[in-house]
Amino acid sequence: MSTDTALEVDALQKSFGGFRAVSGVSFSVAQGEVVALIGPNGAGKTTTFNLVNGQLKPDSGRVRLEGMDVTGLGPRELWRRGVARTFQITATFPSMTVRENVAVGVMAANGGPWRLSHAYRRMTSLDPTETRSLIADVGLEALAERICGTLAYGDLKRVELAMALANRPRLLLMDEPTAGMAAAEREALMALAVEIARARQTAIFFTEHDMDIVFRHAQRVLVMSRGELVATGRPDEIRQSPLVQEVYLGHAAIGEKR
Ligand SMILES: Nc1ncnc2c1ncn2[C@@H]1O[C@H](COP(=O)(O)OP(=O)(O)OP(=O)(O)O)[C@@H](O)[C@H]1O
Ligand SMILES: [Mg+2]
Repeated sequence: MSTDTALEVDALQKSFGGFRAVSGVSFSVAQGEVVALIGPNGAGKTTTFNLVNGQLKPDSGRVRLEGMDVTGLGPRELWRRGVARTFQITATFPSMTVRENVAVGVMAANGGPWRLSHAYRRMTSLDPTETRSLIADVGLEALAERICGTLAYGDLKRVELAMALANRPRLLLMDEPTAGMAAAEREALMALAVEIARARQTAIFFTEHDMDIVFRHAQRVLVMSRGELVATGRPDEIRQSPLVQEVYLGHAAIGEKR
């Protein structure tokens, strides 16, 4: 098994009742590669994501991380193996400061207890260097002592990114990371995530409805339709593909804003 592969997915299947949401999906993501998964609403993108992050178990097929079979493992086991994810709905602790939230992420990554009461108690004794550098990486130094509940949405997404990066992931999973953000903020968040990931040789696998973001930041694009992977290629190849245009018929044309 090649060790330059961060993620390998082989013939994944998942049905809900009689409905096949993911059908024979195979692809791989190289170490440090930025790959987007696109497709119309209901294509099976989130289901594929949840099969990769351990939220869902496949009916059949395999998931491998750096060559190791992790099929059927839950989110926590995968997280320990270097998989981090951001959430469509932000998952920070709203009554804590930016610094405290990031410190919880660092502590959890260092094998600390997940229980928040323990986390609070240990926080003051923690070496703050890593927390501080993560906050700087996502550009939140000026807001470090702000309570997260009072932050603008775009800044909250940065906190969440810092928390995900605290795990020093080999693979970062982002399902619609820029949903709900203004256009300029979207571009800034994705550019930041890609820049940090490149510097750390972290692979990114993301879904996104904003095609400007996809075509600007993905090195490779996978296209799903009705549960199947129907195309894969470089952004310029995907943008020009008649098949992909057809997949999007009845939806916003590819490359247009929704
Ligand atoms: N838990 C579930 N139970 C039943 N059906 C489901 C479940 N999760 C997803 N589905 C169905 O599977 C299909 C794929 O859904 P999925 O959420 O993966 O699509 P998606 O590509 O992420 O869409 P979107 O772009 O809207 O986020 C849809 O028809 C959806 O209704
Ligand atoms: Mg989805």
